[in-house]
Amino acid sequence: MDTKEQKKEILLTGDRPTGQLHLGHYVGTLRKRVELQDDPRFKQYVFISDLQALTDNARDPEKIRNNLIEVALDYLAVGIDPKKSTIFVQSQIPELAELTMYYMNLVTLARLHRNPTIKSEIKDRGFGDNIPTGFMTYPISQAADITAFNAKYVPGGEDQEPIIEQTREIVRSFNNIYGKILVEPYMILPGNDVCNRLPGIDGKGKMSKSLGNAIYLADEPSVIKKKVMSMFTDPLHLRIEDPGHLEGNIPFIYLKAFCKPEHFAKYLPEYKSLTELEQHYQRGGLGDGTVKKFLNAILQEELQPIRERRQFYQANIELVYNILEDGSKEARKVAAETLKKVRRAIGIEYFDDAELKRTYQNKYNNILSQAAAMQKKTK
Ligand code: TRP
Repeated sequence: MDTKEQKKEILLTGDRPTGQLHLGHYVGTLRKRVELQDDPRFKQYVFISDLQALTDNARDPEKIRNNLIEVALDYLAVGIDPKKSTIFVQSQIPELAELTMYYMNLVTLARLHRNPTIKSEIKDRGFGDNIPTGFMTYPISQAADITAFNAKYVPGGEDQEPIIEQTREIVRSFNNIYGKILVEPYMILPGNDVCNRLPGIDGKGKMSKSLGNAIYLADEPSVIKKKVMSMFTDPLHLRIEDPGHLEGNIPFIYLKAFCKPEHFAKYLPEYKSLTELEQHYQRGGLGDGTVKKFLNAILQEELQPIRERRQFYQANIELVYNILEDGSKEARKVAAETLKKVRRAIGIEYFDDAELKRTYQNKYNNILSQAAAMQKKTK
């Protein structure tokens, strides 16, 4: 690593390989990652957290294996570039597991139970009293992911905030006890609320695979169109002339996340801005179909290059694995350096610690010579 690289701030994010990535991921963090990898102030790591995915899928490893490649394809498809960002796989960095062991001693079970993200995930999964230990402790393993790479920034959604907060606590305890080795991380949240929590097409909650309300990055154009046309709008807006409501109106919410001024000139020249479109809808006289067709045109434009890049990598799966393997090798070196520092700080790097050996030799030399002196006296 040259000195210029060292001065860069580190960004790191991961995704669990439990399904293909969708528009929620895209506006929440993927779009940002593509932008940030070109920023010369940063060095970015992007990884697939298969170990974390196993914490609640231990009995279904096939699912994780299948989705590892799907997530890798989605990363490359959106434009995360292995030449600019290091893309790696969590399970290929055993150093992370060891770091987790040391951090576990700094976190109480009570603190884990108080973590709001964990709390709600335990509820969603219906674990009851049967929470896998690995699941309960994944925030600690996530702290290892982040600190191993000295990451200062973690781009992600607000649901990750409690985990990053817990990471900061671990960093502070560690640095207090063992010396200042670890970097405290902060989140980079999406700029607006819509991107923070993109709702699903049914309007019933956040876009998610489990709710079946997602538009996937890999969806075909006809599927995207069908999903857009089926979006939940305003149930009171029965006739075109009726005044419409924007609250909870999914096409309008998506327009906030995707629409740019130039889209109007291109696809809907009767309007100049989103505000104008919204006002017309509220007044009455604007049909849902027009809004949906406009949104569909925008999404098709945004997703087409993504689909094409995906198709290229789909035809070159071995290349995708090679990218992951190379990235993992590079990442492992960095994690190994941090681990070494951590072990040294804790004081368990016994065998290459000349000072330690000298200290104990001196201690016993002293004891020996004192004993010899005593013996002389008593004689
Ligand atoms: N918890 C993240 C998710 O639910 C995945 C993840 C694992 C992660 N380790 C991380 C994200 C470190 C950011 C930084 O998808």
